[in-house]
Parts: sequence; structure tokens; C-alpha cells
Amino acid sequence: MSLVSSAPWQALAAHQPTTADIRALFAADPQRFEKLSLQVGPILMDYSRQAVTEDTIHLLADLARHQDLAGWLDRMLAGDKINDTEDRAVRHMDLRASQPPADVQAVLAQMDAFVAANSYDTIVNIGIGGSDLGPQMVVESLRAFVPPGKRAFFVSNTDGTALADVLAVCDPTKTLFIIASKTFTTQETLLNAGSALAWARGHLGDTALQHFVGVTASPATARSFGLTDDRIFPFWDWVGGRFSLWSAIGLSIALTLGMDHFRALLAGAALMDQHFKTAPFERNMPVLLGLLGIWNTNFRGAVAHAVLPYAQHLHRLPAYLQQLEMESNGKGTDRTGRPVDYATCPVVFGEPGTNGQHAFYQLLHQGTIPFAADLIAVKQPMGPLNHHAVLLANCLAQGEAFLVGRPDPTRPPHQIFAGNKPTTTLLLDRLDPESLGALIALYEHKVFVQGVIWHINSFDQWGVELGKQLARPLLPELEGGPAAPHDASTQALVQALRPE
Ligand code: F6P
Repeated sequence: MSLVSSAPWQALAAHQPTTADIRALFAADPQRFEKLSLQVGPILMDYSRQAVTEDTIHLLADLARHQDLAGWLDRMLAGDKINDTEDRAVRHMDLRASQPPADVQAVLAQMDAFVAANSYDTIVNIGIGGSDLGPQMVVESLRAFVPPGKRAFFVSNTDGTALADVLAVCDPTKTLFIIASKTFTTQETLLNAGSALAWARGHLGDTALQHFVGVTASPATARSFGLTDDRIFPFWDWVGGRFSLWSAIGLSIALTLGMDHFRALLAGAALMDQHFKTAPFERNMPVLLGLLGIWNTNFRGAVAHAVLPYAQHLHRLPAYLQQLEMESNGKGTDRTGRPVDYATCPVVFGEPGTNGQHAFYQLLHQGTIPFAADLIAVKQPMGPLNHHAVLLANCLAQGEAFLVGRPDPTRPPHQIFAGNKPTTTLLLDRLDPESLGALIALYEHKVFVQGVIWHINSFDQWGVELGKQLARPLLPELEGGPAAPHDASTQALVQALRPE
């Protein structure tokens, strides 16, 4: 039987109209916040502004049970190859376990020793996708913990200006380049790594490679780049790229913030893992976050999900979550290979508040697209300036405006706010390594929960392959080689771009 015609799905569809007006739900239940909020470690989740009641949550949890969420979690934890199209296990939780497996411990020890022995003032991480977005987001989020005189750059784009701009401000004698690539075959990364090595050789001659290390699941390929084993930090095929910041891919984090902070990040994630593995679905933060996404996407027609951090240092979180959610769950066929007949991952986007308020919130308040949003705020003031109350007031005001709106018929139409827009607020006690680790793990598990319910493989990414393949033969053409057949548009653009 298809998911859509299953009893729990049909029950949710029948129940949906009873929760359509969020304001009416507040009016009907003075205990609503107490019932629909949850504290786990340093994170308070308020989902009372979602179009749900406790009944909705029970029905959504029924759907999770129907889709065997507990069974899939057991299979993931047992190391089953649940990433079946790549024949791989999914074991990123092992990287942050309080007693990690021996191979994980060995690499942590290798990182410990390397961080203790090296005092480069500039770290340049060269990687892309999961080998860039995670560590970059973490280092940016924890800027308050970066010691004076240390700095990290993240170079991902093939556009040579990205690397050139960084090299222009680096002292080659004080810079370490980390080539971060699970496969060590990614075109963008190898191009940037080769150019960085040429630059370093120009300044340092034969000693240049002493300023390079590699992080990879393919050490043999890293060796062919010229790296010796002591300069290669391995990880494993059971760590998906977008789930890899907890592995040696986090070396840039460890070198910039220190190993203690890196371990605290792992501990924060482990706290969320423990909660995820043990709490009942109805009181389980990642399960709830995932189910609310299902509710908004599949039963309320949301096509977009806004990530709105009210913390400047979380400014890369939306970009990180774009890969985590959209590369994982942007799928149109289910695990049996059949096209799905229900929506999967919405478009994920965002910007820090208050910047977004002066850009795209207009569409959120008065546009025509159904969406949901996460507002993320931090209790403890950040930075030396006394701006925090203003920031938090804006966060609360936006949540309130999305909920209550201003449906005042005495006003002209352009001044009317419909309200009734669903949001979840995540309130962190502090923006520190533990809280950030817990927050990231929360979203990782949300993605897993949704993948299970949609019955898709969240851990492959075949949709990125075609473009890579088509780029290969285009390169010689753009460099003046013989023209090859393409669609008329591509052909004309090649002509416009070829050397005269
Ligand atoms: O975009 C596709 C992808 O495979 C991502 O999943 C991955 O994070 C990224 O490329 C980088 O891959 P690698 O770490 O192998 O260089």
C-alpha cells in the first residue's frame, strides 16, 4: 500500500482542517506553550506556534511508527548498509560516541598530536560541499573561541579568485593548507590544491609540502598528490560528506579553536544522539522537528523552509543546512525505485535576522508561497556591545508577527498581515561548542527522520553526477578544441566563450 493511502497518512489528512488556525489553537488552550515546548540540554524548542495540537503530534508519531522509524534507527546504529545505492553504512554517530571505536580513537589521537605540535597562525581549508560547509560553519559560529592571532580561511569555489584572494593575505611560512576531500578526486578541490601548492613552492621551494596535509577516505589517492602517511588524516566510507565535520574533516576546527573545543562539540552532539536514541517520539526533539517538517510539507503545502538565526556568528548555518537537507532529502524516487507521489524536501534558505527582515521577510509576511520557518536565538549576550536585547526583541517580534499577523479589515489591503504562518523557535542557552554540537546533531537527525518517513535514501547524492560528467568534455571545447554536438543553447554559448 502506498504511503499516501496508509491509515496514518489518511488520519492526518482528515485531522488537518481542525488545526488550520494557529491563533484559534492558542485561544482554546492556555497551557499550549507548556504542552508544545521541550528542553533538551542547552536547547529549548518552542513549537507552540506550529499548526498542531497534541493530537496532531500523536498522529504524526503514528506515521513514524508506520514507517518503522525505530527499526531504521536500529539498522543505522547496527551498521547496516542503509545507504544501499552506495552499499555503505551510516555511522557518523560513532565519531562522537563517548567510547568511540578504535579506528576513530586513533585518528582523534593523530589530530591531538598534530594540533599540539603545530602553531600555524593561518589555516586554509581547501574542500567543497561537506568537506567545506560543516567546518566553515562551525569555525564561524564559534568565532568567540578563536584565540587572538589565529585565523582560518575556507576555499571551495573553482573560480580562481576565491583562492587568489586568500593567498594574497597569507604568509607562506605561517600557513597550513588542509586538502579536505573524502574521495580526493573532486575537480574543484584538486584544482585549488594544485594552485595552492604551486604558490607555496614558489615561496618555499622543496619544503612546500610540509605546509600541506590531507583529510580523506582515500589515502592512496592523497599519497599520489605527494602527501606522506604522517600528513594524511583518514576517515571512512561510512561517513557521508555532509555528516563528516565530526571526523578528521574537522581538523580545521581543531587547529583553529583547539582540540578541547573540538571535543566539546562532539560531546554536545553525543548528548543529542543519546536523547534521540532513547526519548519517546512524542517528546523527542529531532523526531518532532522532522515530523513538523512532514506536517508542513505534506499536509499544509509548504514548499520552502526558512532558517532564520538571530545570531550573526550563525551566518553560515543556512548554507550548511541547505546541503544537509536538500542533498539528503531532495529525492524523487523512493527506496524501491518508484517515483514518489508526495512532496519531499522543501527549498531551504535563510539569512541571519535581522538582515533577512530587510530583504525577504516581505515575501514571508505578505507573499503567496506557503512556508515554515525556524527562528534560532541565543539567550546569553554575544560580543562586547550592548545590542542583545534589540536582537532578541526583533526575533520575538517576527515570531509574533508570523503568528498573529494583523488581519484588520479597517486597514487598506496592503497593510494587512494574514499571520498564521508556522514557526518553531530554538533557543540556545549559549553559543558555545556543546550547544552548537547539539544543534547540528538535532538537524542531522531531523533529516534522517524525514528520509525514513518519505522512504527515501537520505545518504546518497546521485543528482550531482550529471553536471560533473557533462563538464568534462566541455573543458577542451572551451580551450579551443574541436566542437562537439550539444543542445543549441549550449552550442551557442560555447561559441561565445571560445577563444577568438
Ligand atoms: O556535491 C557532491 C559531493 O559528493 C558532496 O556530497 C560532498 O560533500 C562533496 O561533493 C565533496 O566531495 P569530496 O569530499 O569527495 O571532495
